[in-house]
Parts: sequence; structure tokens; C-alpha cells
Amino acid sequence: MTIDWAALRAAAGSAARRAYVPYSGLRVGAAGLTADRQVIAACNVENASYGLTLCAECGLVSTLHASGATGPLVAVAIVAGDGMPLLPCGRCRQLLLEAGGGGLLVDTAEGPVELDALLPAAFTGAELRARRESR
Ligand code: THU
Repeated sequence: MTIDWAALRAAAGSAARRAYVPYSGLRVGAAGLTADRQVIAACNVENASYGLTLCAECGLVSTLHASGATGPLVAVAIVAGDGMPLLPCGRCRQLLLEAGGGGLLVDTAEGPVELDALLPAAFTGAELRARRESR
């Protein structure tokens, strides 16, 4: 599948402009391309109770499910308010893994990289199934 990285970065930038960031001032936008070619986007939303802050990627994963997309995420662009790529935090790498798998392409300043490279030896549902005690 061809990926229009410029369009994906632009969609992330538009979402970043709508971010609610009265505390950190760091706007973040995330845009994703789904396997059925939908482009979805989300922004970060902060809260006076700082720990409740929602990263842009959290919103993106929620939007993925709410959109009714039939396939996983295949590519994501995450940008700060300046429009330049921002690497996802650890929690969001884990969320993206479940939404797109290790082959999910993540935009970086040096070009797209697979999520596997950003989150090696990840914990997944397979591990959970293999190690869970039977109830
Ligand atoms: N943030 C994201 O939205 N995504 C990330 O992957 C890293 C951090 C947001 C959360 C918070 O609103 C601000 O950036 C500063 O941490």
C-alpha cells in the first residue's frame, strides 16, 4: 500500500492545532492510516489532575475503534505543534502495538520505522495467553 506521509503528517498537524494543553503547552497530533485506507486523527487532552492527561495516541486508538475501520493501523504520524515528528512515549508504543502490530510504520525525522524497532521484546496478548493460570 502506498502511504502519503506528507498528508498523514499534515493531518497530525491539524489535530495538534486543536490540542488542549493549558499545562504543558506541548501540542501533539497523531494521524493514522488504516488498512481500509481511512485517515483518522486525534490530539492530546490535558487535565488539572495532571496524571489524567490523554496522549494524542490514546485518542487515535479510540478513534480507530469508533471509526469502524475493518483493519489495523498500518502507518502513523505523530507531530508536535511545530509540525515535526515526535516519538511516542512508552505507554503509547504499547497502545499502538495492539492497534497496528509490530509492523506498524511510524513516521520519524529520519523516515518511517517499524514499531518493533521502537518497542523490542514487547509484552503482548500472546504472552498473556501463554502464561495465565487456568481459572
Ligand atoms: N504526549 C502525547 O500526546 N503523546 C506522546 O507520545 C508523548 C506526550 C503529550 C502528553 C502531554 O499532554 C504532553 O505531551 C507533555 O507530556
